[in-house]
Amino acid sequence: SGLSIKEILKNSEHVNQEVIIKGWVRSKRDSKAGFSFLAVYDGSCFDPIQVVTPNELQNYDDILKLTTGCAVEIKGKLITSPAKGQEYEVQANEVSIVGWVENPESYPLAKTRQSIEFLREVAHLRPRSNLIGAVARVRNCISQSIHQFFNQEGFLWVASPLITSSDAEGAGEMFKVSTLDFQNIPKTADNKVDYDKDFFGQESYLTVSGQLNAEAYACALSKVYTFGPTFRAENSNTSRHLAEFWMVEPEMAFADLSDVTLLAEKMLKHVFQNVLNECKDDMLFFEKRVNNEVIQRLEKFLKSEFITVDYTDAIEILENANKTFEFPVSWGIDLSSEHERYLAEEHFDSPVVVVNYPKDIKAFYMRLNDDGKTVAAMDVLAPGIGEIMGGAQREERLELLDKRMESVGIEKEHMDWYRDLRKYGTVPHAGWGLGLERLVSYVTGVSNIRDVIPFPRAPRSAKF
Ligand code: 4AD
Ligand code: MG
Repeated sequence: SGLSIKEILKNSEHVNQEVIIKGWVRSKRDSKAGFSFLAVYDGSCFDPIQVVTPNELQNYDDILKLTTGCAVEIKGKLITSPAKGQEYEVQANEVSIVGWVENPESYPLAKTRQSIEFLREVAHLRPRSNLIGAVARVRNCISQSIHQFFNQEGFLWVASPLITSSDAEGAGEMFKVSTLDFQNIPKTADNKVDYDKDFFGQESYLTVSGQLNAEAYACALSKVYTFGPTFRAENSNTSRHLAEFWMVEPEMAFADLSDVTLLAEKMLKHVFQNVLNECKDDMLFFEKRVNNEVIQRLEKFLKSEFITVDYTDAIEILENANKTFEFPVSWGIDLSSEHERYLAEEHFDSPVVVVNYPKDIKAFYMRLNDDGKTVAAMDVLAPGIGEIMGGAQREERLELLDKRMESVGIEKEHMDWYRDLRKYGTVPHAGWGLGLERLVSYVTGVSNIRDVIPFPRAPRSAKF
């Protein structure tokens, strides 16, 4: 059969039947009574399955030589396990050794419980560890749940371009895209490769956000979202920043800030519920090994309503906090991660939404509030991480958008296409961006986002 261990165990009809297990040896234990026990893992679920190999098997001598990491294919009978520790086990009739491990002593994943820092050094082998395997399954569950949620809510998934000439966030953190024609490599005056040559003659970058393109589609198709990689040339070495990360960006027409705040709460609840239902063993592992609150806090979030706090009130909370912050607090500052974490962890002890930030610290496209000083922005802050989502109602009034672009030095001509959306049937619209890795980090409790994306891209880490 071509079934995975998870599929075999899902269904009691396989008990006392012949099964085939294909996977890798996690560990081996030889018993004096003429058996070897193999723990075989195939990644489909957290636990390996126990395989009992009797010494009458014709290649028992080879079986005794198996080590962690060897690839095997086993034919045998699935039975209810007579021993403690597992519900089922396989009595092997045949063990084919598909791939040996060369030099078992030097196999980097031979020991269980390697440090997370060591695992980062062997990013190509770390999916074989308990930790990174569990992260991969939960990340998959989260991603699938997000697509499922938006599909149920009637949103269309829109592919936003990765190459663009606009700086959607206006923060100047873009990677340049150049064309290199290897037949005719452009050279500088001193005969070096001229990497500054533009993308077919047009200045272009890797996108920092698909939002502006999503707005164009929302202003025609009402409810859309993007889900894909985005890039930030942020030379910061923190546990919450990557140069390449995945972003989910819903955009809704005929919607304001409170509509998209509700959408965020509903989506997070859908995702958390799915993870708790579908990744029980993985979550129990994270609870035991990584952070003992991970399950409890998701359950708590499911039962509560999103806490929303005005930026101005958040500043007051921080000013009155019995604590000295590294970055002093006053109205007008951008919240730093210590402020965000104080709010989410110590003050509210829950994810919170901060709304209505000062306009000067936010992007040009955010809608000006009636007070003339703040914009209809929202950030979702989570305990242990800080900001996981950032969004806004967009400025749909052309005159105000133009004024704002002028004051931050964005050329009108360059953004003509974006201004067209305000000229032809403009409509209140809003959306947000969720950093997928930050959400995976919150859900699993794995605190460095380099450990929740398979091959992290950050300064000086583009190997693999
Ligand atoms: O707050 P940001 O910069 O917002 C936007 O890009 C908007 N255009 C989104 C929108 O309204 N459609 O980024 C959104 C989220 C952040 O809240 C954070 O979770 C994540 O993206 N993020 C990063 N994640 C990992 N590494 C980085 N360098 C990140 N920068 C932002
Ligand atoms: Mg932000």
